[in-house]
Amino acid sequence: MRIGTYYYPEQWPRDQWERDFDRIASMGLQIVHMAEFAWFSMEPRAGVFKFDWLDEAIDLAAKRNLEIILCTPTAAPPVWLAQDYPDSLLKDDAGTRARFGGRRHYSPMSSAMRNATRRIVTEMAERYGDHPSVIGWQIDNEYSGPFDQNQETHQAFRDWLQRKYKTIDALNNAWGCQFWNTYYTGFAQVMLPKDRDPRYANPHHHLDASRFWSWAWADFNRLQAKLLRPYIGDRFVTTNFMPFHLDANPADMAEDLTLFAWDCYPVTGWEKNIIDQTYRLANPNMIGLVHDHMASFNGRWAQLELQPGQVNWSGVPVLLFPGAVRLWLWTCFAHGAEFVTTYRFRQPNFGTELFHHGLMNPDGVTMSEGGKQFVRVIDELRSIEDRGSRIEDGKSGASRPQSSILNPPSSLPAVGLLFDFDQLWYFKTLPQARKWDQPVWLQSWYGALARSGLQIRIIHPDRPWPDDLKMIVAPSVQMLDETLVKRLSDYAGDGGNLILTCRTGLMDRSGQLWRGLVGKPILPLIGTNITAYDGLPDDLWGSVEMDGKEYPWQVWGDLLEPSNEVEVLARYADQFYRGAIAGTRRVHHKGVVSYCGVYAEPSFVDAFVEKIARDANLPITILPPRVHLLERDGLKILLNYQDAAVEAPAPEGSQFLLGSKSVEPAGVVIWKEN
Ligand code: GAL
Repeated sequence: MRIGTYYYPEQWPRDQWERDFDRIASMGLQIVHMAEFAWFSMEPRAGVFKFDWLDEAIDLAAKRNLEIILCTPTAAPPVWLAQDYPDSLLKDDAGTRARFGGRRHYSPMSSAMRNATRRIVTEMAERYGDHPSVIGWQIDNEYSGPFDQNQETHQAFRDWLQRKYKTIDALNNAWGCQFWNTYYTGFAQVMLPKDRDPRYANPHHHLDASRFWSWAWADFNRLQAKLLRPYIGDRFVTTNFMPFHLDANPADMAEDLTLFAWDCYPVTGWEKNIIDQTYRLANPNMIGLVHDHMASFNGRWAQLELQPGQVNWSGVPVLLFPGAVRLWLWTCFAHGAEFVTTYRFRQPNFGTELFHHGLMNPDGVTMSEGGKQFVRVIDELRSIEDRGSRIEDGKSGASRPQSSILNPPSSLPAVGLLFDFDQLWYFKTLPQARKWDQPVWLQSWYGALARSGLQIRIIHPDRPWPDDLKMIVAPSVQMLDETLVKRLSDYAGDGGNLILTCRTGLMDRSGQLWRGLVGKPILPLIGTNITAYDGLPDDLWGSVEMDGKEYPWQVWGDLLEPSNEVEVLARYADQFYRGAIAGTRRVHHKGVVSYCGVYAEPSFVDAFVEKIARDANLPITILPPRVHLLERDGLKILLNYQDAAVEAPAPEGSQFLLGSKSVEPAGVVIWKEN
């Protein structure tokens, strides 16, 4: 795994470049990103290019054997574009245009923006596409923006709908337009909504708007990827996603990106009910889930930005727990990252992010605390390699056989977690239970699987699944179709262990309820009817009982009425329906299907997974809270996200390559088993 940093030569005096590149190289960093946001510096006037500075910076980096990731600068269009083409600026519902003076002010559907993009990206690709030091390309930066209200975007939405539905009658049906008689008679009448909240308007319309908006960013990304491809050989193409960010579904870019990447800023100070110091260390389930999501497309993934210290934007400038940055770097390693880079090398002395830490303090020469931890990990990686452990960098990912991409070899039992991004949009648009938080719910299940020492693979409804999954958990796949039901049913029927949860299979893919029993398509699988559901007011907690223990719940609870051959796993312990069934399990041909009817607190989800895994005789290892165990290249890696010491479950005779059996707070241990 290589480690590097973003560097913005155009932001610093020319006479400091050599010093900075020397420092980057001497710290052992191997990768620099350049040109992100530097559109104006490369094209100060439309069609007038100025690359001498970038030539020189690339040269300085190459001379120091640094690998270079070039970024297309489209996240920050220059002033001349905004001035000459006001339609390229995002427009809100009141008709107000975004202002020039920051970034992300453009519409991805603007033809002026797209023409200007073609010009700058082609120039860059022609000039640097086959540069031997350039290893890959990052397109844009963190695709996101409010639903644009320019005419070109409305038209693009209409075209997208017409491709999807063909006829306006089909759209009226899919959107249930008989409700309040909101029929359309032509696609030209349809508008892109202003946001995801339908208020009293049509939720199906808003669901399609989310899908379209993600398609729009993906289409803009495709434009750039296609321009780059003829010039760059087999260098990777990537972009940096934000975690669970609703504007861009990474799956929509699966055909255009050859490496998936995200930006990880896990300490924000936004936690509630804080009881210890772990909020300075972040939530390992969030980080692990997003890492594994990135790895789930083609096996190649990287961390593009990794929080190096305090940030400027969270409003709570939490000082990180000692060792946090090092722990995050090793977490990337454990999940198979090809490389990790950080935003940014130097803390700026100016601009909106002047309080944002970098690897260097504002003097440009003193290493920050985060910088020191980067250097430490670089040294530790080297020393592990020097001691004879070969660490794959994953670079050959694209040419590895499909089976090992989906499921890299590991001695830990592999399990699948179904993550269908499409569901996030509808939960947002039509939450029904205000406290329903699908990303948090997914993290609960992720955490429960990780706690049992299982190796988690993120699986998608419509992409190949690894064939050796010992268990699949599908949390609240609310909208589904026959194909997915059959896939899940075949998995269980062939001997798999399937866990479904409340709010699974309630609707078709347009987000309409079935004309039938609640959860109709999954009823034959779970063998129980769902007769009612409950959600509790803010300060009221219900209790659910399993194996003689009670657990709190609040967000959602299905009341179940199973048939005779179904085993009852959990019951509600209070409310007027005390004793009603909350969880079940049944044999399905050669396999087992369990149903967790309650969106409960993580303690219940942990116990549910542990029970199912134990009864299935999976070789699980119950880990302490906030501790994850992973495997990479035959090495076991234990990550301690606690603010207290823990014991590593390394068997007698293990060879420790980093740390020892007793793991310090925020510590990492790596060992080999014989
Ligand atoms: C990211 C962004 C970077 C920088 C960083 C600050 O979201 O991609 O350019 O702004 O946040 O934390």
